[in-house]
Amino acid sequence: MDRDFDGKVAIVTGGGAGIGRACAVLLASRGAHVVIGDLHQETALAVVAEIEAAGGSAIAVVGDLSDPSVVERIVTLSVQTFGGVDVLINNAGIMDDMSGPHEVSDVIWERVLRVNLTAPFLLTRAVVPHMLARGHGAIVNTASEAGLRGSAAGTAYTVSKHGVIGLTESAAVIYRDKGIRVNAVAPGGVATSLEVNMMPDAMGLSVISGYTANVGRVAQANELASVIVFLASDAASNVNGAIVPVDNGWCAI
Ligand SMILES: NC(=O)c1ccc[n+]([C@@H]2O[C@H](COP(=O)([O-])OP(=O)(O)OC[C@H]3O[C@@H](n4cnc5c(N)ncnc54)[C@H](O)[C@@H]3O)[C@@H](O)[C@H]2O)c1
Repeated sequence: MDRDFDGKVAIVTGGGAGIGRACAVLLASRGAHVVIGDLHQETALAVVAEIEAAGGSAIAVVGDLSDPSVVERIVTLSVQTFGGVDVLINNAGIMDDMSGPHEVSDVIWERVLRVNLTAPFLLTRAVVPHMLARGHGAIVNTASEAGLRGSAAGTAYTVSKHGVIGLTESAAVIYRDKGIRVNAVAPGGVATSLEVNMMPDAMGLSVISGYTANVGRVAQANELASVIVFLASDAASNVNGAIVPVDNGWCAI
């Protein structure tokens, strides 16, 4: 299993930090050519350097993946540089400001839906023809506890992550006989910079404590990466359309 991704090409969105970084490093250590897509050049290039220093293979595409031209660029570059796309980890995401439907602004609604849901859709639409041409592929989407219930975030984030689960299940069924598997993880609390990067910093302390009460132990990013990479691997060859909570039992409450 050590080099089970040898020669495979994996796009990891949000690969410059947090869960995406952990996925990129793990995939590269198991032999994949990794294509990191991220908004931030400095962190994306730092992960490329980290992978190369460990003997792995990676490139970075810097840009906003909710922009169709950036999506086209990352897929074209993956094909030109490494010959195709075998794995897509749709992981980049942003938090909202925990606002409810009566208070959420147009800006937050549109930005959160665009980054968290439209970007994974655009990437899926762009990579699937390459996977169909090869007769195989694995897509893993990072949903959230907020994709399973209404109590983990604000309305925009919750709706976006419910949408990610819909995208996952729809694609899993549509491509099930074509060699492409599509699964998702639903993380609970993970120690990353997601909350620091939260859209406005308007999240009140009372909301934070209500949210953290159910989280339990906060996971490290590599505890998510191990499950995401498992779902992308041949070890999960009959797992398709699964939404896997990685949340220390939060979903069991
Ligand atoms: N951290 C948690 O507690 C938690 C819980 C549930 C779900 N998630 C989900 O996990 C995923 C990864 O988040 P994280 O916790 O690692 O956060 P993070 O902020 O540490 O990393 C997210 C990465 O995505 C990049 N990114 C954001 N918007 C982008 C865009 N438009 N285009 C390209 N890159 C973009 C950021 O630059 C960053 O490098 C997200 O989808 C998030 O919703 C996180």
